This record gives sequence, structure tokens and C-alpha cells, in this order.
Amino acid sequence: MRNLVIVGTQWGDEGKGKFVDLLTPNFDIVVRYQGGHNAGHTVIVNSKRFILRLIPSGILHPDKVCVIGNGVVVDPEALMQEIEELASVGVQVEGRLFVSDRASLILPYHRVADRASEEARGGERVGTTLRGIGPAYEDKVGRRALRACDLFDFERFKTRALANAAEVSFRLGSELLESKYESYFQSAERMASMVRNTAYLLNRAVDDGKSVLLEGAQGTMLDVDHGTFPYVTSSNAIAGGATTGTGLAPNKIGGVLGVSKAYVTRVGSGPFPTELLDSTGEHLRQRGNEYGSVTGRPRRTGWFDAVIARYSVMLNGIDSIALTKLDVLDELDEINVCIGYKYNGELIQEVPALASVLSKVEPVYKTVPGWKVSTSGIRDFDRLPSKAQDYVRLLEDLIGCPIGLISTGAERNDTVVVPNTPAVRWLTAH
Ligand code: GDP
Ligand code: IMO
Ligand code: MG
Repeated sequence: MRNLVIVGTQWGDEGKGKFVDLLTPNFDIVVRYQGGHNAGHTVIVNSKRFILRLIPSGILHPDKVCVIGNGVVVDPEALMQEIEELASVGVQVEGRLFVSDRASLILPYHRVADRASEEARGGERVGTTLRGIGPAYEDKVGRRALRACDLFDFERFKTRALANAAEVSFRLGSELLESKYESYFQSAERMASMVRNTAYLLNRAVDDGKSVLLEGAQGTMLDVDHGTFPYVTSSNAIAGGATTGTGLAPNKIGGVLGVSKAYVTRVGSGPFPTELLDSTGEHLRQRGNEYGSVTGRPRRTGWFDAVIARYSVMLNGIDSIALTKLDVLDELDEINVCIGYKYNGELIQEVPALASVLSKVEPVYKTVPGWKVSTSGIRDFDRLPSKAQDYVRLLEDLIGCPIGLISTGAERNDTVVVPNTPAVRWLTAH
């Protein structure tokens, strides 16, 4: 099968957008399978910076079809804004961007509910993006959601939307601002023309020999089932979500590329065993420009965690890793890699279910020397300093999965392709 899932192996922002963009030329269709406009995927092309939130990062390639799958929660206002931003830089989406008729919609009241739920949690807040993602998924599993297909009977849609909004306003004791809904309805009406049964669209394309790139948002540790619950997002970010979130069956997936940062970052609250709260953490934040692409919040930073990487490889069936931001480590004297955790005096190698336990584990580190020369923009494995090569090999051994791609800068071409690794097959048109 020629269809590939790209998934984040940590807590998001691993650099998925860059790799979706890099691999898109070799695929016919790019599809997002979960999350919403909580995602922020940065792509840099010829020094121009694009941040895709809801639309698949493949949209920057003018001849490609992009799909927002049924597993995504869609805010029509956010979608229209993104379409306008793209149009202003010459990227037209008409006729090549489709939204699943089964995608649940985010309504303005979901944002109000998101904020209220965070406030109610007090000190235990998740640190959500406040985009209404969680409440929209609650409506979906609670079988109350309005879906994209509901736009086809627009008068009924408006009635139901306002009834839902009135109920939530009553429950939360908040004011129902009908004016907010006027602009929302305008966007929703515009979106209706893009709505299709995308499960058939994708499966027919695959039957016709076309290839699909499935773009994950967030990361494995933010997955609602397998991540650091309750400090997670409300969807299945892991590769399994790519089948439920698109309607492409598991046997249509030909491989899974895991994107891992050479260190780790996290936005929002929750356990982070290798977090650095010192000047090294600040150095990584500055050098890696680790500020949220959606909310601008400073990202928490820490050392690479092999326990989490192995867990991600297992859960996602990752057969190749793309290692990003190696260049951010260039100036460090020494680099730590977490090889296990200590908890109650015992060494553990597995990720515990309880966030309260994961927040108390003590990371066990292997320390290696830094390379102290620039790797920025290097495109050939043999040209990496030998200590950087050793670091990559060490991670590979610890993770138990080949590192086939190494990113040494934000631009498309700042990428090392490691010869004779399984990732190479995704770099040619197929
Ligand atoms: P995503 O959410 O996984 O798509 O990742 P983000 O786009 O939120 O964050 C990754 C950030 O790192 C973006 O600003 C990218 O432009 C940048 N980036 C990606 N790869 C590299 C790299 O190898 N080196 C450096 N210095 N920056 C990178
Ligand atoms: P990309 O796709 C990093 C985090 C939020 C919060 C938690 C729940 O760019 O990697 P939500 O608004 O989803 O209910 O928030 O998940 N989060 C992300 N962190 N990258 C993302 O997306 C994220 N999307 C959500 O910060 O901790
Ligand atoms: Mg991001």
C-alpha cells in the first residue's frame, strides 16, 4: 500500500508540518484525520512562513487535493479565515479542498464551554488552546453534535445550532450572543460547498491507484486514550486515528512515519519527566524558537525521552523516524537522553497510566558529549559531525527503530536522507 501516516511521537510540535510538506509531492491526496484548529503546523518555503491550523499542510502544493476527514472537528469561521489567509499569499483552495460530511462542527458555544471547563478545574487545568476542541468532541460522542452534512438543510441547521447554544448558555449561566452566530452562519454557508462524502472519495482514489498522505495533529502523548490523561487533547492522535478519522481501513495503510524532536517540548499542563526548568531549558526554548504557533505560549522544554519514544513506536507501528531540530542542540557541551525512569526505588521502562505517577518518576539519563559545531542546513549524513552521528545512532538503538530522515533546519531542503532506511521509499513518487 502506498498510503503513509505521519504522526507526532511526543506532545506535539515535533515538526510534522515540515515533513508533510516535504513528502507531499510524492502523494496525490493529503488528509487530516483528527484534532481541529488547535494544531499549528509550520511550513517554511523560500523563507516564507505558513502556519496551517486546520487545512492539511499539503495545500501549499498547488496540484494536490486536500481533505479534512470525519475525525476532525471543524470551526467554519477558522476554516474560512485560513482559506482567506492562504488566498492572500496566492494559494487557492477552490476545487481541491474537501470537508467530510461526517466531520463534527465546532460552534461558538464550544469555546465558551472550553473556557468554563478550564476555569472550573482551577489549579488542575489542562491548559487547552481554548478553541472549543474538547466540548465539540463531547457533543460528538454524546450524539448531539451538528455535522458538516447538517449544513445541507441550512434553516434546520441554524435552528438546531441556536437551540444547542441556548441550552449551553443556560447551563453555564452565560449570555447567548446571537450576533456571534450571524458571522458564524455566513462562514458555515460558504463551507457547505466543500462538503463531500470523503470516505468514498478517498477509497475510490486508492482503488484508482492514487496515494494518500495522512497527516496527524498533536502527538502520541496527547492522545485521549494513550497519552498523559487527563492532560491530553480529545481525539486519537495516534496512527489508529487515521483509519477511524478518514474511513480508510487499516489494510490501506502502508507505513507510519513518526516525527520526533531531538529533544522534547510540551505546551499546556501535565507530567513531563525530562523537563528542564533551568538555563539549558531556556537555551533550547530560545534556540528552537519554542513558542506555540497557535497561542504563542512558551513551550516547556526537556531532554529526549527514549521511554516515550519506544511507547510511541509500539502504539503507532512506526517503521521510520524523522528526527527534527538536531541543529538546536549544536551549542550544548553535554546532552542527556532519558533511558528509563526510577519510581519508588525501582527502574521502570513503561509509561504509567496515572499522570500523578508519571509526574513523580525520576528520569535516568545517559550523558553524551555535544558536538559544538553547526549542523544547520547539513543534507548529508556523512557531513554531520561524528558526535552528532553518534547521538543519532544512540537514539536509534534506544528507540529500536531506524531514523531515516534528519532535519537540520526549518526549510524543506534542510534535511538528511539516511541511505538504505525504510523512509527512503516515501521520497519517490509512487
Ligand atoms: P508541528 O505542529 O509538528 O507541525 O510542528 P510546529 O510547526 O508547531 O513546530 C515545529 C517548529 O520547528 C516550526 O517552527 C518549524 O519551522 C521548526 N522546525 C522544523 N524542523 C526544524 C529543524 O530541523 N530545525 C529548526 N531549527 N527548526 C525546525
Ligand atoms: P500540533 O498539531 C502542542 C495541547 C494543549 C493542551 C492540550 C489540550 O501543532 O502538534 P486542546 O485545545 O486540544 O483541548 O488542548 O493539548 N495541544 C497541543 N500541544 N501541539 C499541538 O498541536 C497541540 N494541540 C493541542 O496545549 O495542553
Ligand atoms: Mg504545532
